[in-house]
Amino acid sequence: MFYLKSLKLTDFRCHQNLFLTFARSVNIIIGKNASGKTSIVEAIHCLGLGKSYKAGSNTEMIRKGAPCGIIRAEIVNQDKNDELLFSLSPNSKKVALNNKTFARLSDYLGYFNVSVFCPEDYRLIKGTPRDRRNFFDISISQLSSGYLNASIRYRKILKQRNEMLKMIAGNQGYDRILLKILTEQLIKEGTTIINERKKFISALNPLFNNKTKQISSGKEQGVIKYLMNTDIDRLEQVFSQKIVNEIAMQTTLFGPHRDDFEIKINGENAGTFASQGQQRTLLLASKLALTEMLANKDSPLVIILDDVFSELDSARQNQLLSMINRDFQIFITTTSIESLASKLLEHSKIIEIEEEEKL
Ligand SMILES: Nc1ncnc2c1ncn2[C@@H]1O[C@H](COP(=O)(O)OP(=O)(O)OP(=O)(O)O)[C@@H](O)[C@H]1O
Ligand SMILES: [Mg+2]
Repeated sequence: MFYLKSLKLTDFRCHQNLFLTFARSVNIIIGKNASGKTSIVEAIHCLGLGKSYKAGSNTEMIRKGAPCGIIRAEIVNQDKNDELLFSLSPNSKKVALNNKTFARLSDYLGYFNVSVFCPEDYRLIKGTPRDRRNFFDISISQLSSGYLNASIRYRKILKQRNEMLKMIAGNQGYDRILLKILTEQLIKEGTTIINERKKFISALNPLFNNKTKQISSGKEQGVIKYLMNTDIDRLEQVFSQKIVNEIAMQTTLFGPHRDDFEIKINGENAGTFASQGQQRTLLLASKLALTEMLANKDSPLVIILDDVFSELDSARQNQLLSMINRDFQIFITTTSIESLASKLLEHSKIIEIEEEEKL
């Protein structure tokens, strides 16, 4: 048994001081627009994964005018209670579990996983390659600490290598041996990333296609393709052949930081070909497939449904809920209780976010 028993937000987004208690099953957070519902589930996401699924920076999440933000949670973990504390300052994030602070966030990750269904998901189909990489990076990192660590190292090396390419272009002199080492390290970490992405996509696809068929009553076929910028066996070759181009562009042109993923429906690109209903089917199917993969991991899982019910009729709400394993703690945000299926309300804790709680 694993669930969040309570949550305390201090200077996080619009919440100066908010304390909430949760049920171990379904929690429905109700409040008007801008009352701070998404901020609550965003905080839960931060606790699990060390980052938001929305914010680009720490500052965005710290209440305006406050120096730092704090998220605290009391967690029931098997037969004991854990205390989790996540603090955000403009330039750093810190996490402590039962008063033990982790030197690196990556040492903490894996305590619990989060699967979030939110309006921003449309970016998986309509967004940029960076949006899709972000989505898959968060997903694969939850499934593989090897991937997470390789990605952290890759980003660091990439930054150094790009700085070096700028120096070369500006005739500032550079260390040829260091460039060679950075390129070799980039290839090493890049190879791990590409291999893990390939492995993940081939594990995801059968689940994804199944869910797509299930939601569309057998009408649609879905597949996700991994579009590599450069395959592993060509990395070494392109880096040695195209260095002139990289110096001219002052940036690293090859490697997994330039990869993309394509979602296809019945053999066609979903972004250009699918109707809105079909796109919704594909998004839901991809999220459900990922949730199933996360559910099979050892780490506990909590599920967030942020504002995804408002546009579904009650039959579809029930269909979605029946496809989510109810053994997990679920957080649902909505502006009105009327839009929710009565079957769902029966077994849920209703949490109303009042105006006075928002300072
Ligand atoms: N750093 C911040 N400091 C103070 N307020 C913030 C900060 N970031 C966001 N807000 C404000 O917090 C409020 C709540 O936002 P949130 O997205 O949580 O609302 P919501 O209840 O999910 O609304 P909706 O129903 O429209 O989705 C918004 O008015 C937003 O502008
Ligand atoms: Mg919201």
